[in-house]
Amino acid sequence: MPEITVRKASPVEFKKKPAAEAQLGFGKIFTDHMFLMDYEKGEGWKNPRIEPYHPLSLDPAALVLHYGQEVFEGLKAYRWSNGQIYLFRPRMNYERMNRSAKRVCMPELDVEFALEATRQLISLEKDWVPSAPGTSLYIRPNMIATEAALGVQLSKKYIFYIILGPVGAYYPQGFNPVDIYVSEKYIRAARGGLGEAKTLANYAASLLAAEEAHDLGYTQVLWLDAIERKYAEEVGTSNIFFFLNNELITPPLHGTILPGVTRDSVLHLARSWEMKVAERMIGLDEVISGLESGKLQEIFAAGTAAVISPVGKLAYQGKTYLVNGGKVGPLAQKLYDFIMGIQYGKIKDPFGWMMRVA
Ligand SMILES: Cc1ncc(COP(=O)(O)O)c(C=O)c1O
Repeated sequence: MPEITVRKASPVEFKKKPAAEAQLGFGKIFTDHMFLMDYEKGEGWKNPRIEPYHPLSLDPAALVLHYGQEVFEGLKAYRWSNGQIYLFRPRMNYERMNRSAKRVCMPELDVEFALEATRQLISLEKDWVPSAPGTSLYIRPNMIATEAALGVQLSKKYIFYIILGPVGAYYPQGFNPVDIYVSEKYIRAARGGLGEAKTLANYAASLLAAEEAHDLGYTQVLWLDAIERKYAEEVGTSNIFFFLNNELITPPLHGTILPGVTRDSVLHLARSWEMKVAERMIGLDEVISGLESGKLQEIFAAGTAAVISPVGKLAYQGKTYLVNGGKVGPLAQKLYDFIMGIQYGKIKDPFGWMMRVA
């Protein structure tokens, strides 16, 4: 593995760490250092380094700014009560980043090297990992096309970088259901498009629907399939689960949805508990009739940010439906407790999911 050079910030440059961990919020505070490396066609990845956190200098014609060659990831580091710091299934994030990169013709990373770079950066920044319940250090790996050129083309130059920031508990006031709005007007992704890649275009495509849903008082958008606008796909930036007739159902990975690490973990756990599980398309007609008959017991979203987000209310075609009386359901609670328990080292890690980094 190539050696990572380290240029440390001088202590006078160190940022003040936030005092109130309960008010950390998300994505506003960044640590003192970042990891970077460069790619050039014909040479491969080179110059891996840790440097003081700093703004990037890009040519205004850099291809990422025009044609969107960019991929990213999102994962967290958790501080256990013994002080040690762990990641949750981080290899899956870098494997997904490579699949995303391939889809937008960007170079792949050596997964083991990316994990080592992440480990070294977190180890240097370990004092930034908060310890209050539910808090963590968010990790954002990113890859962008940097060649200056205005013709639509593949960049011959890229940078990969990792930044870190402490983030607060997703549910500082306790585990709470969210209200979601089913978008029939906008779609996020179609088969054959970019939906399964974690790339910026998908997030740009989601903003207007999310704004309109917020204006109507809803927290998240439930996306439908692009063709029939009938089948559930994802909710906000999470995967979606339905607990119907004692069966746990989630839409299949057929190219339009992001293959979530949390989604995979929920499926793993449910199967290990010998629950009935199906990865299949589920139409809104089936969802609504399940809510009306009471056979649809729970709906929840799953993703790194919140782990599990129970859905309390669903708005579809001008009507609103309560899910499980607007309360957190027992399955959502059990999955939340179990996954959080594993992440924070409170319960045994039955599948070897946690990787110690400091
Ligand atoms: C569109 C989308 N779907 C699903 C997820 C959930 O994925 P994960 O569980 O890996 O965080 C995310 C978050 O990364 C996302 O952005």
